[in-house]
Amino acid sequence: MESLLPRIAVPDPSAGKLDPLALIPDTDETWLEVGFGGGEHLAWQAAQNPRVGVIGAEPFINGVAKLLVHVDEQGLENVRIHFGDARPLMEALPDASLSRIFVLHPDPWPKKRHYKRRMISPWFFEESARLLKSGGELRVASDIEDYVRWTLMHAQNAKDFEWTAMRADDWRVRPDDWPQTRYEAKSLREGRTPAYLVFRRK
Ligand SMILES: C[S@@+](CC[C@H](N)C(=O)[O-])C[C@H]1O[C@@H](n2cnc3c(N)ncnc32)[C@H](O)[C@@H]1O
Repeated sequence: MESLLPRIAVPDPSAGKLDPLALIPDTDETWLEVGFGGGEHLAWQAAQNPRVGVIGAEPFINGVAKLLVHVDEQGLENVRIHFGDARPLMEALPDASLSRIFVLHPDPWPKKRHYKRRMISPWFFEESARLLKSGGELRVASDIEDYVRWTLMHAQNAKDFEWTAMRADDWRVRPDDWPQTRYEAKSLREGRTPAYLVFRRK
């Protein structure tokens, strides 16, 4: 946390607009993971896609520490970390500056009075539409039926996105370029079934 994080931390988003390509040298495009948890998905994507800069946002210190271990051990040069709420970071990124956004197993906030805390919201779809290039992808996973329904309902109202699924297995089977997260492994052990939703920016 003391030595590596300052080298790969995203500058404070409240200080002004961020240019992700300038922030991560030798990359051609940028992906964002919101709430990366233990960072295993993010580290895998960064290792598989060295020409892609991958920015992760996570307010939970243990998660940040875990991702730092992956970055250090694998020598990943293309990862940047925002230790905090993803939303101010998103607001500081320029229009059409991302080609993928991942939100894997967002906190479910199951009680009705807490719905406003859910990451997936009309604001989130609008902001993702602003940030994604045409043809870019928003990937959302959840093992909570109500949250999947919630996400699809908001996606349907988000005119800039189309859900790519053509058949049930397109959302029931995890694509090959989508490694399992810790949360997902636990969910499967406990008998829940995740849904893998991919939306394309029109
Ligand atoms: C259920 S966990 C899933 C973690 C990981 N994506 C996985 O699948 O293993 C939800 C994560 O979202 C993070 N989170 C919650 N609110 C957030 C916010 N406003 N911005 C970014 N991350 C957030 C939490 O700290 C937590 O790590």
